[in-house]
Amino acid sequence: MENRQLAYKGMPFSREELVEKLKAALTDSRFQHVLRVEQTAMKLAALNKVDLQSASIAGLVHDYAKQRPDEDFILAIKQYHLDPELLHYGNAIWHGVVGWLFVKNELQINDIEILNAVRYHTVGHEYMTPLEQIVYMADYIEPGRDFPGVDEARKITFANLAQGVAFQTKQTLSYLVAHNKPVFPQTIVTYNSWVPNSGLDKE
Ligand SMILES: [Fe+2]
Ligand SMILES: [Fe+2]
Repeated sequence: MENRQLAYKGMPFSREELVEKLKAALTDSRFQHVLRVEQTAMKLAALNKVDLQSASIAGLVHDYAKQRPDEDFILAIKQYHLDPELLHYGNAIWHGVVGWLFVKNELQINDIEILNAVRYHTVGHEYMTPLEQIVYMADYIEPGRDFPGVDEARKITFANLAQGVAFQTKQTLSYLVAHNKPVFPQTIVTYNSWVPNSGLDKE
């Protein structure tokens, strides 16, 4: 019964059927990650009064496109006339910013809130909805994550979702700069919207 309720989000199938599709599309370790993101997203959704089924579906599908070959993304960028600037990046950016189109077309998910949560889960944007914030954060702090600062990230996020977004955005930008990596322009927009005045401690 519980699984059938998920179908109301416009999907023609149950959670179990969706899980099978993800299992087929992902390596086992990524599939396990996706299940943990779903659980973390649902906890954050309960805390922040966000629809649990949206959090479940968005958590499950957020990395659906992660294992796709580059050619699929390049073709989609051209086919859908997306910003050609995107061609200078790679899977880390594409699997969300472009991958949501595969989620829509192949998993038949039409809920725009869920699709946007997939779209922005890596780069964020200026006005992230609570569901978008939840997927962005669940991906970062799910129990399998292990990096310096992850416990602090969890503590902050469970206390204050928006401050969690600020924390992750700052860490990501600092990491990219420290490693001389390119910064996707949207990440800077996210930084400017979420980090100053967020109440985060300064280092
Ligand atoms: Fe991802
Ligand atoms: Fe992920």
